[in-house]
Amino acid sequence: MKLAAVILAAGQGTRMKSHLPKVLHPIAGKPMVQWTIDCVSHAGTAHIALVIGHGADQVRSSLASLLSPGSNFHFVEQVEQRGTGHAVLQARETLLGKAEAVLVTYGDMPLLKTETLKNLIKQHATSQATITMLTVIADDAMGFGRIVRDANQKVLGIVEEVDATPAQLAIKELNCGVYCFNADWLWKHLPQLKPANKKGEYYLTDLVAMAVDEKCEIASIVSRDVTEMIGVNTRVHLAQAETIMRARINNALMLAGVTLVDPATAYIDASVEIGMDTIIEPNTHVRGKTKIGVNCQIGPNTVIRDSQIGDECTILASDLTDAIVEEGVQIGPFARLRPGAHLASGVKVGNYGEIKNSFIGEGSHIGHFSYIGDTQMGKRVNIGAGTVTCNFDGKQKSQTVIGDDVFIGSDTMLVAPVTIGDRARTGAGSVVTKNVPPDSLAVGQPARVIRKIANSS
Ligand code: UD1
Ligand code: CA
Repeated sequence: MKLAAVILAAGQGTRMKSHLPKVLHPIAGKPMVQWTIDCVSHAGTAHIALVIGHGADQVRSSLASLLSPGSNFHFVEQVEQRGTGHAVLQARETLLGKAEAVLVTYGDMPLLKTETLKNLIKQHATSQATITMLTVIADDAMGFGRIVRDANQKVLGIVEEVDATPAQLAIKELNCGVYCFNADWLWKHLPQLKPANKKGEYYLTDLVAMAVDEKCEIASIVSRDVTEMIGVNTRVHLAQAETIMRARINNALMLAGVTLVDPATAYIDASVEIGMDTIIEPNTHVRGKTKIGVNCQIGPNTVIRDSQIGDECTILASDLTDAIVEEGVQIGPFARLRPGAHLASGVKVGNYGEIKNSFIGEGSHIGHFSYIGDTQMGKRVNIGAGTVTCNFDGKQKSQTVIGDDVFIGSDTMLVAPVTIGDRARTGAGSVVTKNVPPDSLAVGQPARVIRKIANSS
């Protein structure tokens, strides 16, 4: 059964009180609507039409990467929001003849699971129904439409809360707004909807009564998990959705062998990968395209974004962005790795070390309050406390090169561009403005080479 999907996302989202369109608000690091798009595409849809309206330009540009040549993703614009039926109708031209079944869902229902959609699709295929709906039994009606059935449990229609009688309001089976339609039937009947209701809208839900009138088969699957159906309308709902999504991500990580000491304060994006036996301590944020190896200890109080961390690393109370850290590295507390920091294996960076756009060779130590920027550093280097690579003269950035086995004395200023040769040393407080040859000791301000170092190896 070839499947297309329509995702409705044209609504205004007024209650978010935001300049950002509702469906672009992130949940666990990904725009809300992207969760729906991913869910629908994992369920096996060949074509996806996203119906946009309010904030259409912003949504379009934020999701532009989905529109690669030959992609099966389509934006469809609904200029005026005249109801869910009218919204789906906007996708007719784009999807006509492209699938046998059409799945409909919303861009503000990010907690819906692929598994649930797959069950709906399976039910639709086996029942050969005209419409298969997802319903939920719940005590709190949440303003949802009620499923009206006859004495034999046969579906008669869906009635919206504003249009319902007191008896209908008592119905506990609710419409989730997720359906699978026979495509030919849908595209033929959508134009026949009439806005004959209190809101004056074209209700997609009226198609159910229409199908019943034509003696078409209506199938349904009933869920009991209301959390999947949470529609995000306010920032309170956004926070609830975030909490639930994080719990799902965290549970999956724990079941895959990662220890989360306090899952409630582990903030890990869906896109993150973490190896077995790594321990995530409390209040740790791991964001974006971060990958962490096995047997690491991360946190407490650590933020890592878009970084690669090797096996057996310890990162305590530190902040990393766009960094590469090889295995057995110790970082923190209170270190900051900025974009382009690359620490080879066995490196140690202690408190108040900041590293930017620099390669730190194997086994080198930057123990205490230092700034290393635009630097190429060799192996087994010791950087004394308070060392600064002065990489910026107010106009341009310059490189510092430090060889292997160099010892930089405390409070050394390395005024770039400058090169420190292998096995060289600098005295405490030196201001190095000229290159220091290998095996030499430089001291003073500005530093001058005073002698060759005896017995250096
Ligand atoms: C709809 C259903 C209701 C169901 C509920 C579940 C109808 C008539 N009612 O009600 O039975 O219980 O969803 O959440 O379908 N949208 C557009 N264009 C429009 C109107 C809506 O894109 O012209 C989008 C909205 O952005 C939203 C979704 O469709 O994502 C649902 O719209 P909403 O107004 O929230 O529908 P409800 O009245 O809550
Ligand atoms: Ca709604």
